Amino acid sequence: MSETSPKLRAELDGIPTYKPGRPAASGGPVAYKLSSNENPYPPLPGVMDRAIAAAGSFNRYPDLACTGLLTELAGRFGVPAAHLATGTGSVGVAQQLIQATAGPGDEVVYAWRSFEAYPIITRISGATPVEVPLTGEDVHDLDAMADAVTERTRLIFVCNPNNPTGTAVRRAELERFLDRVPGDVLVVLDEAYREFVRDPEVPDGVELYRDRPNVAVLRTFSKAYGLAGLRIGFAIAHEPVAAALRKTAVPFGVSQIAQEAAIASLRAEDELMGRVGSLVTERARVRQGLVGQGWTVPETEANFVWLRLGARTQDFAAVCEAAGVVVRPFAGEGVRVTIGEHEANDLFLRTAEAFRKEL
Ligand SMILES: Cc1ncc(COP(=O)(O)O)c(C=O)c1O
Repeated sequence: MSETSPKLRAELDGIPTYKPGRPAASGGPVAYKLSSNENPYPPLPGVMDRAIAAAGSFNRYPDLACTGLLTELAGRFGVPAAHLATGTGSVGVAQQLIQATAGPGDEVVYAWRSFEAYPIITRISGATPVEVPLTGEDVHDLDAMADAVTERTRLIFVCNPNNPTGTAVRRAELERFLDRVPGDVLVVLDEAYREFVRDPEVPDGVELYRDRPNVAVLRTFSKAYGLAGLRIGFAIAHEPVAAALRKTAVPFGVSQIAQEAAIASLRAEDELMGRVGSLVTERARVRQGLVGQGWTVPETEANFVWLRLGARTQDFAAVCEAAGVVVRPFAGEGVRVTIGEHEANDLFLRTAEAFRKEL
């Protein structure tokens, strides 16, 4: 056996591997997974039927161009099909956007803390991450982000609402920010949680993209639509950004099962948005419950809440897990807790209350 090993790109050194939310332990009394911002509802029967029918031909490659789905999405959003590009989850599309814009020597700006894939996919491309701290209220500091733009900046992520804090930026401040960013820098509005937004002042990125060629919007079927396991997300962007996404796509990366389930989900939108409405109601109940217990919880427009626990983060996560709810700790910072089924939220609230009383 040779003593040497293959030469790997130096950029990979020190890149953390993406950490998925911990699964709920099996075999225990009760265990709820509130660690990955998933949709707690099972697939709708109609969506399931269409996915199963598609499974009958998985000996064939899928439709590379996702023709049926793009037609459906174009109608749904009132955009040309040429402005749409799909990928293996919106994280896959985000990675393609970086590949298309940034390499060694280039900079990618995003808020921190935000979606933990941003530093990983930036560094995989060899580009330099520029992390701009959130404000004291855990909101994007858009003025500081605009100030961070240099002639090396190629892409800026604005995660709205932000993962893991749930906070969202509003129309006037986002428009002011977009007006400040040079037209040759791509601004990606990552709206993975858009369907959970209830504040009318939080803009729909699709409206902002229309007359701004340097704005792309990322959406996913993983959260509100409940298709996380099928891996399908998409971008809405002007040419040539959408064309660049088609070039950087892994061929046949989106399965036919995912495409068909996405089409069926768009057609079942009323029912799915009813579920989203129930989760939003639960969100308000959980947040108010926590505030009533004395916690400080930022206003959230997503399907999760954020508790800034600092040094007590890991303890809190361990107590929750022992009680049967798996939350998402960010060591030294806080925990993100997904809004789940009513019983899961109740159990979490009881656990948080007991922890608070011991403080
Ligand atoms: C802000 C944000 N963007 C993108 C994603 C990726 O979702 P997916 O790849 O499942 O579409 C997530 C998932 O947690 C997220 O929180």
